[in-house]
Parts: sequence; structure tokens; C-alpha cells
Amino acid sequence: MTTDGARRRGPFGMEYARILVPDMAETIEFLRYHVGLQLERHTDEYAYLRADIEHHCVELISDPSLEVSRTVAVGYSVRSAEELADLRDRVSAAGLEVLPLQDRMKGLCQEGFAVRDPNGLIIELFTEFQEYAEPPTIELRPLKLVHPFLATDKYDECLEFYTKVLGFLVSDYVGDVSAFLRSEDRFHHSLALQRNKEFFVAHLCFMMKSFDHVMRGRARALYKKVPIASDLVNHSASTSIAFYMYEAKHGPRYELCDGHRVFTPEEHETHRPRRMVADPRNIDVWRAADNDWDRF
Ligand SMILES: [Fe+2]
Repeated sequence: MTTDGARRRGPFGMEYARILVPDMAETIEFLRYHVGLQLERHTDEYAYLRADIEHHCVELISDPSLEVSRTVAVGYSVRSAEELADLRDRVSAAGLEVLPLQDRMKGLCQEGFAVRDPNGLIIELFTEFQEYAEPPTIELRPLKLVHPFLATDKYDECLEFYTKVLGFLVSDYVGDVSAFLRSEDRFHHSLALQRNKEFFVAHLCFMMKSFDHVMRGRARALYKKVPIASDLVNHSASTSIAFYMYEAKHGPRYELCDGHRVFTPEEHETHRPRRMVADPRNIDVWRAADNDWDRF
């Protein structure tokens, strides 16, 4: 809180993930066919793919030395220069290093900076992310990249960093093992944390236009025999229905969802985070019983 009682703002919403991949051409094809992204620009070194009007939602960096992909950065837009300056002040006040944006990213927004989270994941924050006048004309495409899901061996530090320093609000907890955090675009979560033995970016969630499109994405995954890491689940906290596919060389798990809850402006200011039971039925309301974990 500031001295006048106003809430200090968090970032607006998730814009992109930056992923190092061993075979960029294959991953581009994967993201086009299975997620519905449109390739906009690429060289031998990098590629930008977009879902809607925003400049990109995935930046691929070619790294043939890798066996599997590695997600190295996540970008969030911020609504104004004032809110960005306030975020920068909070990062400095927390004793964290204010880093420059990646060089290419400097040319794709007005201003911004980066900071490492407790696990070293780069978080880029910026204003006025460049956009296209029109969305891609592809019918089967996501409308938005909604959130990363981070498994972390530094859960408590991450919770402190994302809420106290960056100003995310807690929407819900599952026990003391997961937290769903929302930003100013009011989606139930723009970032999720899970207590784990190690750090990894567990998944990236894309919001499709409809449940019909989620099912078409699932049909494509089945048709091409892409491993489905988790089949249809009905998430209790965010009310979304989703499935997850996973090929380690192409990125983290990709979640295609429909129906992710968006808070009203009033709920955004007044919502009390629920402390939900660590029970499979609380993650997927379609689970049959409290011992029904194994099918995840
Ligand atoms: Fe998710």
C-alpha cells in the first residue's frame, strides 16, 4: 500500500515466453499445427510466433547443442510508464538487480527492464508492446497466452517475490503447495507456482476461442501421436477445461484451455484467496475420488 492507501499495481498480463529449442524448424511446425500460432519473422537464430495482435507470444531461439528445450524468460506488459517506474522502484528496494531488456525486445516496446526471479528465470516488464492491426486470419488459433506454471524448489521465496515485489495478487492456494496469482488483466491466474524438488517451467497455457477448438487441438494431438501429458481436466479454481500436450524438444507442456475465469473489476479488488484442499477433485472436478491422483 502507498501512503494514500492505493494498491500498488502489478504487471498487466503475460505476453510471451522465450524458449531455447534444439531444432527450431521442427518446433515452428509444431507450434503452427498443434497450438495454432502464426510465424511472423525468423532468421536462423530466432523466430517470433503470434496468437493474436500482440507482436509475439513465443520467441524461439535456436540452440542445437540442447537435447530438450529450455524456457529462459517470460514477458509481462505493464499499463503505464508510472506503473513501470513503481515496479522498478520495488525491485530496487528489494535489493534485486534491475537488468536491461533483451536487445531485440528493446525495439518492440517503449521502455522496460528485466529482473531474475528466485530461480533465475528472467521476467521482462515493459510498456506498449508493439501490435499488429489485425489478428492472424487462421481460424484455429489461441486468443491469448494466459500463464506460465512454474514448479519451484524456492516456493516461499517465489511467492514473496511475485506478490510483494511484483504485485501479483493471490487468487487461490491449493494447500501449501500451489498458488494461483493474477495480474491486472484480471484473469484468475497469469502465473502459477507449485512447490517442487526442482525448478522447471512446467507448462504454458493458451486460451482458445472455444471448447470446440480445444477439442480440435486435442484431435490433432491424437492424430499426430503427440503425447498428451494430461487429458481433459476441469479445473476447479480457474473454471477452465483443458488438456496438455508435451514433447520436451518443443517447449514445456502446452495447455490448450477454454473458460478460464476472468474476475470483475470489483472481484479483482475484493477477492479473498481460497485455501483449497490438496485433493485431485480440487484440481479436476471430474476426478472420481480423493485417491484418484494417478491418472494425472
Ligand atoms: Fe495452467
